[in-house]
Amino acid sequence: MTQIALITGANKGIGLATARALGLLGMTVLVGARDESRGQAAAKELAGEGLDARFVRLDVTDQSTIEAAVDLVTAEFGRLDILVNNAGILRADGTAEPSATIVATIHEVFETNVYGVVAVTNAFLPLLRQAPAARIVNVSSEVGSITSLTDPASPLYVLTSVPYPASKAALNMITAMYAKELRDTPIKVNAANPGYTRTDFNQNSGFRTPEQAAAVNVELATLPADGPSGVL
Ligand SMILES: NC(=O)c1ccc[n+]([C@@H]2O[C@H](COP(=O)([O-])OP(=O)(O)OC[C@H]3O[C@@H](n4cnc5c(N)ncnc54)[C@H](OP(=O)(O)O)[C@@H]3O)[C@@H](O)[C@H]2O)c1
Repeated sequence: MTQIALITGANKGIGLATARALGLLGMTVLVGARDESRGQAAAKELAGEGLDARFVRLDVTDQSTIEAAVDLVTAEFGRLDILVNNAGILRADGTAEPSATIVATIHEVFETNVYGVVAVTNAFLPLLRQAPAARIVNVSSEVGSITSLTDPASPLYVLTSVPYPASKAALNMITAMYAKELRDTPIKVNAANPGYTRTDFNQNSGFRTPEQAAAVNVELATLPADGPSGVL
């Protein structure tokens, strides 16, 4: 049975690389994107490489697009095997100290990186439960680690801003809670740490390739039945 995988924010960067890698494994990949033309272009690119890729419009901050995507997947496939919650944003007040934090920026970042993941996951859970052994991958970050950001010996100690690191720390907790709720089901929920990756996210300054980052997502998306759940 061909597996069905949905990746949010799949029109570029790590999401596109993840869609390509899962497609190369023979899966049907649903290229989630908030912008129709960018999403169509990405799906076309993958289809041109011989992969079964289809665009699904999905803005993780817009409940109506989430519900429309659920309706589409329900009608076409009746189940979802893999959900990669990849869509994420970083806002540029990254050098601000906590005392200079703009509250609106936290709202904006949490809207996508945190609330968006919960909204998409909850909407797709009925379809994920229809799959024999669904996998949920939440794309997190090492900057979501409280230990890494507070250890003076850590290279990440220099980071001081609140919105993005706090959003990924919240995502880690959310991942753990879903894994706990679903512990008696075949569904596994894990958080991926792609590492510092060359994408538009950081003006292509990362030292890992999107393909290397995608490999982390793919490993968690294809965990065997005895693999972990709730790993951060
Ligand atoms: N790059 C890194 O070093 C790094 C490290 C650790 C973790 N991560 C995480 O990896 C994930 C992917 O990042 P990336 O580096 O590939 O960044 P990217 O190249 O900027 O791609 C981000 C993707 O998310 C999409 N997106 C943003 N807001 C969205 C929304 N509301 N609904 C749907 N899609 C939305 C973007 O769509 P548009 O094109 O429409 O904007 C884009 O497709 C993020 O969760 C990020 O936090 C990245």
